[in-house]
Amino acid sequence: MKVTNAEIVISAVSKKQYPGDMLPEIALAGRSNVGKSSFINKLINRKNLARTSSKPGKTQTLNFYKINEAFYFVDVPGYGYAKVSKKEREKWGGMMEEYFTTRETLKAAILVTDLRHEPTKDDLQMYDFLKYHELPVIIIATKLDKIPKNKRAQHVKRTKQTFEVAPDDIVIPFSAETGEGKDESWSVITHYLKN
Ligand code: GTP
Ligand code: MG
Repeated sequence: MKVTNAEIVISAVSKKQYPGDMLPEIALAGRSNVGKSSFINKLINRKNLARTSSKPGKTQTLNFYKINEAFYFVDVPGYGYAKVSKKEREKWGGMMEEYFTTRETLKAAILVTDLRHEPTKDDLQMYDFLKYHELPVIIIATKLDKIPKNKRAQHVKRTKQTFEVAPDDIVIPFSAETGEGKDESWSVITHYLKN
């Protein structure tokens, strides 16, 4: 997809703030600091529209990015960061649950996982949660650039096996550094936007 326009519309913490124009949405999910915001930036060719950081916990709200006046990417705060209080974790859970279980315009979720590591318990829990709510899941296995070429296939296989991916769900090796996996990501996203 050729992105000609991308803008933040709102940073929301509850349903009444979500955009009301009924455009289709694709939401991100994944561990803190895994590369969700970087994924969005790479796809839309913007360095830092979705704010990123080397420290976990950068994204704190549901950030709605309108792309080409046609659909939204929804960037979300990550999970699994140890230094988060119980109260904050509960707030996060409530916000995510409200979004993922009630949003009618949500077409698919992009679950971002770090290809260097085996998917964590939290990753598996998130995957099951999304599948339970009957959402198509696109797994983006990111930081591909950090893995030597001769080890990549092995890592992709492990990721697929650990998630026990459903037949319709796809795993795309990706790098926000090199852009590998970008075209394939767009083609899958475009498919879900049409359905
Ligand atoms: P939170 O908002 O805290 O949940 O994090 P996030 O998942 O949005 O991660 P973010 O995009 O902010 O990236 C975290 C760090 O990982 C940054 O330092 C990025 O530069 C780095 N990073 C993201 N993607 C890649 C990648 O594909 N390759 C490499 N080498 N680094 C990456
Ligand atoms: Mg982020």
